[in-house]
Amino acid sequence: MPEPICIAVLPGDGVGPEVTAEAVACLEVVALEFFHEFEFHEHLIGGAALDVVGVPLPEATLKACQESRAVFLGAVGSPKHDHQPAHLRPESGLLALRAALGVFANLRPVRVDDALIDASPLKASIVRGTDLLIVRELAGGLYFGEPRSLTKTRGVNTMAYTDGEVERVARVAFKLAKGRRRKVTSVDKANVLESSRLWRSVVDRVAKDYPEVKLDHQYVDSCAMALVTRPATFDVLLTENLFGDILSDEAAVLPGSLGLLPSASLGGTVDLYEPVHGSAPDIAGRGIANPVGAILSAALLLRYTLGLETEARLLEEAVRGVLAEGCGTPDLQGARIPVGTTELGNRIRRRFTELAWSGASLECVASAK
Ligand code: NAD
Ligand code: IPM
Ligand code: MN
Repeated sequence: MPEPICIAVLPGDGVGPEVTAEAVACLEVVALEFFHEFEFHEHLIGGAALDVVGVPLPEATLKACQESRAVFLGAVGSPKHDHQPAHLRPESGLLALRAALGVFANLRPVRVDDALIDASPLKASIVRGTDLLIVRELAGGLYFGEPRSLTKTRGVNTMAYTDGEVERVARVAFKLAKGRRRKVTSVDKANVLESSRLWRSVVDRVAKDYPEVKLDHQYVDSCAMALVTRPATFDVLLTENLFGDILSDEAAVLPGSLGLLPSASLGGTVDLYEPVHGSAPDIAGRGIANPVGAILSAALLLRYTLGLETEARLLEEAVRGVLAEGCGTPDLQGARIPVGTTELGNRIRRRFTELAWSGASLECVASAK
């Protein structure tokens, strides 16, 4: 018998536990249908940890994450802790976890399927064909640069990058682009920022090792506009930490809801998976959060950490099928069959099982080759 695969689960705050439960239940069905053994161990993070232990990333949580094959996180953040000093905010637990695991490449895929085109608030003619991947640098930039300080009259943060930090994330973007439409758009603010000038020159240098990939550079302000005027022209978007944070929430408008977007954070000792959205305190506890971003993050875990491409594709196909039928939580405008978080998760799991028992899994294996 192979050893069970141990996954650390950090539900966190707000809608975090609601969407995490659906994603974990999906992984359980994957395990059942494909004879894998996954073990899930829950731990505290964020506001939930502050309430019990007094710190946003307890040592026990970090140790458990470091000893797991992968970490699955719901969301952190709660209005109750918004006025705390930085080290006592839920968000600093997540930032400390990312730093401790050493994950530096945050992948945020965004797709608009033809069947779901009407869910977008933008015109179908604009979003049709959108299939892009944001590769966000996650370990540096303004989030971690020194010096940083805050007094009553002055707040300081520093955007700093070394060539090594840029090179390693750029290589991830180029490698992924090779398996896609072979185009990288590197997003920076090189007309103003020194850190961006370094970024651009390193990306140019790295690009020479990937001659089959076309590279262009774009300023972040212009990219923000292009993302909602000609999104289908992008393939891989490579960018620094804060720009990637902002552009990915903007990109959520394309498929129609922030609740749809998944992410994978790679490159460190243990991979971390989380939906792109936050704890959504405005809808928490009502059973209406969209679990799709979390479920698609579970699919990324199957793909990137466990190498289970067939299972990942079937789970993504199950999500697509259920949404295409018109099922959706209230954030998906125009969903013809309104459902809550658990019902949407149930429907996706049922669809996954049907696909696993049909010829679809064989087709997935064939098309993955
Ligand atoms: P948010 O992402 O939580 O919510 C923004 C909007 O999107 C809200 O209207 C919310 O209802 C909606 N939304 C988000 N997720 C949804 C889902 N699954 N289904 C349906 N609607 C959804 O951003 P915010 O309100 O700016 O931040 C709330 C808290 O979350 C803050 O404390 C923030 O720091 C934190 N946050 C955490 C993460 C994370 O844990 N990775 C990410 C972003 C924000
Ligand atoms: C995200 C979030 C986090 C970030 C916060 C909660 C620290 O917005 O994952 O997008 O800024 O990276
Ligand atoms: Mn964000």
